Amino acid sequence: MESKIETAQIISGLGTGRIGRRVLCFDRLPSTMDAARSEIKAGAAEGTVIITTDQTAGRGRMGRTWLSPGGGIALSIILYPPLELLPSLIMLASVAVMRTIAGVTGLKAAIKWPNDLLLDGRKVCGILVESGVRGRKVEYAIIGIGINVDLDTGNYPDIAGTATSLAREAGRPVPATALVRRLLRETDGLYASVLAGTPVFPEWRDNLITLGHKVRASCGEEVYEGIAESVMEDGSLNLRQQDGHLVRVVAGDVSLSH
Ligand code: BTN
Repeated sequence: MESKIETAQIISGLGTGRIGRRVLCFDRLPSTMDAARSEIKAGAAEGTVIITTDQTAGRGRMGRTWLSPGGGIALSIILYPPLELLPSLIMLASVAVMRTIAGVTGLKAAIKWPNDLLLDGRKVCGILVESGVRGRKVEYAIIGIGINVDLDTGNYPDIAGTATSLAREAGRPVPATALVRRLLRETDGLYASVLAGTPVFPEWRDNLITLGHKVRASCGEEVYEGIAESVMEDGSLNLRQQDGHLVRVVAGDVSLSH
């Protein structure tokens, strides 16, 4: 069942410092990322959040489509972090979603490098960070988060075998409004601590399911295979190839082989 999200219910007593100072909810949007860009052009304050349950042109990482035909949450958070904290956004978003899923459903999600959230090996959340940098200044950063709340993934052949939803894994309906409120609070708390100098890297690294596994990593046109050995504080992945060489994958996508 598709649940509508309303601004008043999200912000009432939210208690966050930055994130959620302004919350804009829509029944349907092409993409919350594009809506966030328009808000940035209009001078949006840090912490502005755009939310919908239904996107007609949701986008994912590496030029992919993100399916969000209702039954999920799609949200974008506008931030203006210092340049050195840009790599932390991917990590803090993954950790915030992981904590949120645990807090609202009791389920333990794993992070697949760099920022997919998996339940029982299937994807339940995808994260996309887009930013504009000029010189040493971050002009904007947008964290886009898509969570399958009660999307019946079996109805969509492209994702039926690889995706799941919170409701399916929890075996009960999961309240979307409570989920968003928790997510904004977790993200706000983590962003505040990262700004204050506490890295989110250890929690992200310690919850990565990828490390120790044989993986195939695609990075643009390049494909690397090897054992995922370690991650760096900038979020990159070190892959030990069969010939013993270590390659560092800075941005990309991995598939796990067992
Ligand atoms: C991925 O796994 O490839 C990332 C998916 C990111 C999807 C979210 S949904 C909210 C925001 N709006 C979009 O169009 N994409 C992101």
